[in-house]
Amino acid sequence: MNGKSLFINTNLELRLPETEFAQTLFQIVENQREYLGKWLPWVEKTTCEKDSLEFLKSSILFNNGGQKLTTFIFHKKKLVGSVAFVKIDKVNHAAEIGYWLSEDMQGKGIMAQSCERLIKYGFEKMKLHRIEINIAPENLKSLAIPQKLGFHHEGTIRESLFFNHKFHDGEKFSLLKREWIKT
Ligand SMILES: CC(C)(COP(=O)(O)OP(=O)(O)OC[C@H]1O[C@@H](n2cnc3c(N)ncnc32)[C@H](O)[C@@H]1OP(=O)(O)O)[C@@H](O)C(=O)NCCC(=O)NCCS
Repeated sequence: MNGKSLFINTNLELRLPETEFAQTLFQIVENQREYLGKWLPWVEKTTCEKDSLEFLKSSILFNNGGQKLTTFIFHKKKLVGSVAFVKIDKVNHAAEIGYWLSEDMQGKGIMAQSCERLIKYGFEKMKLHRIEINIAPENLKSLAIPQKLGFHHEGTIRESLFFNHKFHDGEKFSLLKREWIKT
């Protein structure tokens, strides 16, 4: 990403990680453990601000190395979530997308718009051919996102997700560049 952000509209932008985000990031995790921890394995491992800081530092390194692309969602200049290519497979021009949004910001279409923006960047600038996501079948709010964005359901990947001390099936969705409707 050139520069520090991808604009979506006057209220919404995706920003690259900065160590200065650590305090805000940790506060969101700390205040929303039950809601976020239900689906995201890293929440229980984040126990102090230093953990968030270390996450930001490693995200910067992975972004610079091209192994991942982590961005943070800012709504009216406030950090409210994250959308990322959590794995990038350069050989096969493929990436896996992941996301979370602060509980109080749900229901406004923020995640769908943020995913659309990162997907556009992935197909246009990173020359991706395929973007995928693997979601637990019980996570209905998350399942709605690939469905809304025109992803194809490829099948159930058995016990491929580990969170809350258990293995869960994953519903695999993908979008190919040729299927993508430019936004
Ligand atoms: C998954 C998650 C990001 C979904 O958030 P969300 O707010 O439901 O998603 P969106 O931002 O796309 O918003 C969609 C909602 O906004 C509504 N909406 C309002 N204005 C909208 C607009 N302009 N465009 C699209 N949707 C809009 C939609 O109707 C929908 O509401 P509904 O769920 O009541 O039908 C969120 O629940 C979350 O972070 N969960 C915890 C972490 C998690 O599960 N991560 C994914 C792991 S695989």
